[in-house]
Amino acid sequence: MNPLNRRKFMGLWAFSGTGLIIPDSIGAVDFLTATPATSNAVEADTMEVGAVEDLMREHGVLRRLLIVYGEFARALREGRQVGGFDQLNKAATLFRTFGQDYHEKALEEAYVFPSLKNSNTEAARTLDTLIAQHERAGQITEILLTATSGKQPENETTLAGLLESFVRMYNAHAAREDTVVFPAWKRAMNPRQAAEMSETFEDIERQRFGEGGFEKMVNDTADIERALGLYDLSQYTAQPIAIS
Ligand SMILES: [Fe+2]
Ligand SMILES: [Fe+2]
Repeated sequence: MNPLNRRKFMGLWAFSGTGLIIPDSIGAVDFLTATPATSNAVEADTMEVGAVEDLMREHGVLRRLLIVYGEFARALREGRQVGGFDQLNKAATLFRTFGQDYHEKALEEAYVFPSLKNSNTEAARTLDTLIAQHERAGQITEILLTATSGKQPENETTLAGLLESFVRMYNAHAAREDTVVFPAWKRAMNPRQAAEMSETFEDIERQRFGEGGFEKMVNDTADIERALGLYDLSQYTAQPIAIS
């Protein structure tokens, strides 16, 4: 990291025992090579989407935000020149509005979890942990939002650790929901109930985000990725392996 930028970076964020102390102003530093927004936006889907598919594709958006968090943490750990905290703030804001307020509270905790609560299933036995993880995710998101609200964090190790712990928890969380909880919920519904839930989920999505709400979230996520140089999928392809 450029010494000047590093000094500015280190001097602007303090982590006290009780919370974050954030100064008032920063100068932005380029993070990764930003690419301009392009027009290959995802368009609204006119096909019927079932409630389980809905939940799983929402996880897809959240996983893309986890990739942003993970790449950010990696850059911090490697001491690379870090900027783009405004984009990290946007990612955390999206995680709160789309992930926590909508996906977790309005769908999972309102419909999915209650219907499994009294079943003698592995899914039912994970519910307390899943709810505790929703709460922890909310706490970490609030800290991330404070830490990135127009300022640059001083303590890069603390921020990297926070991001990494979030990514680790939420990957495990979403994977368990995809493979255990949602299948159990689907099995517990008859076709009529499943159709009703699809309608209900669509209505909630429309109320919160308008028509094409999911596609808007995908496009907002892609904009964050582009701004940070994280959009191009090919950059994630593993290096070729030399086999002797
Ligand atoms: Fe969840
Ligand atoms: Fe979920």
